[in-house]
Amino acid sequence: MKITVVGASGMMGSKIVRELERAGQSVSGASASTGVDAYTGEGLKAALADTDVMIDVTNSGSFGDSNALGFFKQAGKNLLAAAKEAGVSHYLALSVVAADRLVENDYFRAKMVQENLIRASGLPYTIVRSAQFFEFFDGIISSAAETNEFRLSPALMRPIAADEASTLISRIIVGSPHNDIVEIAGPESVQLDQLAREILTVTEDPRSIAIDPEAPYFGVELARTTLLPGADALAGSLTFHDWLSRSMMAA
Ligand SMILES: NC(=O)c1ccc[n+]([C@@H]2O[C@H](COP(=O)([O-])OP(=O)(O)OC[C@H]3O[C@@H](n4cnc5c(N)ncnc54)[C@H](OP(=O)(O)O)[C@@H]3O)[C@@H](O)[C@H]2O)c1
Repeated sequence: MKITVVGASGMMGSKIVRELERAGQSVSGASASTGVDAYTGEGLKAALADTDVMIDVTNSGSFGDSNALGFFKQAGKNLLAAAKEAGVSHYLALSVVAADRLVENDYFRAKMVQENLIRASGLPYTIVRSAQFFEFFDGIISSAAETNEFRLSPALMRPIAADEASTLISRIIVGSPHNDIVEIAGPESVQLDQLAREILTVTEDPRSIAIDPEAPYFGVELARTTLLPGADALAGSLTFHDWLSRSMMAA
């Protein structure tokens, strides 16, 4: 079985490739810098030749990029058309937990367009909605910085280590297509402001945190449970606290 990962050079793509290789799978990686452009379609046909199963972990550039909608729409169409032509029997794409509840933000709306194209494609598929990666937290917190203070919502989240997300995705891709959404998340629900407090403590950042239920999360006001996955989400086991301690030790 040949598995092609599009977006293989990215944060998640590179982890999935390593994980599948470790499991003895036949994996081929593709991305823009290797001449495979999901947006223009260039190189896709050759990259997907003989592919049985494919994973789309491309991204539109920096988060919050207003071009996300154009990217995920066009890249999604091209990838699905190429996958159909290649006779792909399982198409997996990585989306985000709660994307459907965050559509006031351009990026999450774009992720919903990506998901809808997949559902409408007729291809056997699995949409994996992952909770936020621990590695992404610096960005979440920075977006809430106001000079010497972070204004953050106390909404609950269940973030996951990117390593554990890649392990779960690598297991899902070698199974049968769900033709549905599968959610993956970390082991515990934690308030966004508490996660931020842990980061500021270990990095000895003197800035303070103001809890504000109306503080926007990438432009969207959150209810307490907006960011939580459903009860049947597949779960990793590493807590944010342990991941942060390990990361600090490694650094
Ligand atoms: N970060 C999170 O917390 C999180 C949570 C849930 C889901 N996700 C989803 O996970 C996916 C991957 O995220 P990531 O953080 O791993 O992304 P990333 O590190 O930014 O990597 C993006 C990948 O997409 C490739 N790419 C960009 N434009 C392309 C194009 N036109 N054609 C082909 N490849 C292209 C890049 O290739 P080059 O390097 O060659 O340019 C790179 O391999 C995203 O769709 C995101 O929505 C992320």
